[in-house]
Amino acid sequence: MKNWTFVSCSVLCLILYYESTSVARKRNVSIDPLVFPEMIYPKNNLPTSERIDLGRKLFYDPDLSLDSSISCASCHHQKNAFADFRRISPGVAGRFADRNAPTLANVGFQPAFMFDGLLPTLEQQILVPIEEHTEMDFNIVEISKRLAKNEKYVQLSLKAYGQEPNPFVITRSIAAFERTFISNQSKYDAYRKGKKSLSKTEKAGEDLFFNQLNCHECHGGFNFTNHKTTNNGLIFSALDSGRMRVTKKESDRDVVKIPTLRNIALTAPYMHDGRFETLEQVIEHYKRGGDKAPNKDELIQAFELSTLEMKQLIAFLNTLTDKVFVKNQDFRKPKN
Ligand code: HEC
Ligand code: HEC
Repeated sequence: MKNWTFVSCSVLCLILYYESTSVARKRNVSIDPLVFPEMIYPKNNLPTSERIDLGRKLFYDPDLSLDSSISCASCHHQKNAFADFRRISPGVAGRFADRNAPTLANVGFQPAFMFDGLLPTLEQQILVPIEEHTEMDFNIVEISKRLAKNEKYVQLSLKAYGQEPNPFVITRSIAAFERTFISNQSKYDAYRKGKKSLSKTEKAGEDLFFNQLNCHECHGGFNFTNHKTTNNGLIFSALDSGRMRVTKKESDRDVVKIPTLRNIALTAPYMHDGRFETLEQVIEHYKRGGDKAPNKDELIQAFELSTLEMKQLIAFLNTLTDKVFVKNQDFRKPKN
């Protein structure tokens, strides 16, 4: 019974609930991009191939939305490292929210989810797009009823979790699938393992990124993010105040999670609202020291950058593309 009260709670209420009860998890984030930490699995959701396969089928199934038109994959495309190439993704009935769908590469290593960085588990995150009016506009209880009428799902669900389709099974299996999205085979990874070399231009860009421009202070570590939240000199629209939307604290105005830069060449447009179409535009923003946002991080300072250095920095960022990841057959839409 407790479970049902929980799932019928509104999304905002869920977020607030988890903010007040969650304990920030500390992780040792290595500064060496090669060393990935161990994936932490919830005790009640250890991965098995049955669980992952079920989650994969659900991830691609539009029946998770009210009018059976939108699946998770409608906004998270594998060829874009599971981000959306559109600035804002249309949800059910062509409705639009106000944020750009981020990459899901290495999402299983994140300590918290959403731009606000306040949801502590992938399992909980799944309820957000499902219930969001501008996304799937549905309800996990209704989805469970719909899936329970489908013999195939009943069988898969029993095999995976020993239960018929229900909110537990739906959220657990999709999360199990998402935890398999590991991206660690970029050219830069191969270079750090001594298996490939970088061009002179790429190496110069690496030096700018790590040694000259402060980028790695926020975008460092195995996943090119320190997993913190801050403001990088962007002033948000009147509709979105970043984390403040949830915490109501002025110190959280226009503050969001620091995103990974892995596969960045594939995940345009950029920033929470997709305001920049190219990496040049992103770097121009940093070059001028961003805008005068009230909570701008002190690491965001104007710097000089020649046209050549701009090219070098972008060449380096392009080495973070993982072609194996975006072509991995195991992540594709299943055949049946
Ligand atoms: C209509 C487009 C849309 C659909 C459908 C959608 N998402 Fe998303 N997704 C987004 C957007 C936009 C965000 C960022 C929202 C925010 O932070 O406020 C997001 C964020 C996420 C995140 C958090 C990533 C991070 O780095 O914190 C995960 C995980 C995720 N989605 C998984 C899913 C899953 C699983 C489904 C299907 C159940 C799904 N999404 C359906 C657009 C969508
Ligand atoms: C103070 C921390 C900080 C520093 C330093 C920093 N960034 Fe960022 N970066 C962020 C945050 C926060 C965002 C997300 C902002 C948003 O979505 O509104 C971001 C977003 C980005 C994005 C867009 C990512 C996406 O998926 O949309 C790129 C590209 C980027 N940064 C590159 C750089 C480069 C290159 C440097 C060095 C010149 C740099 N950053 C320095 C915090 C930082």
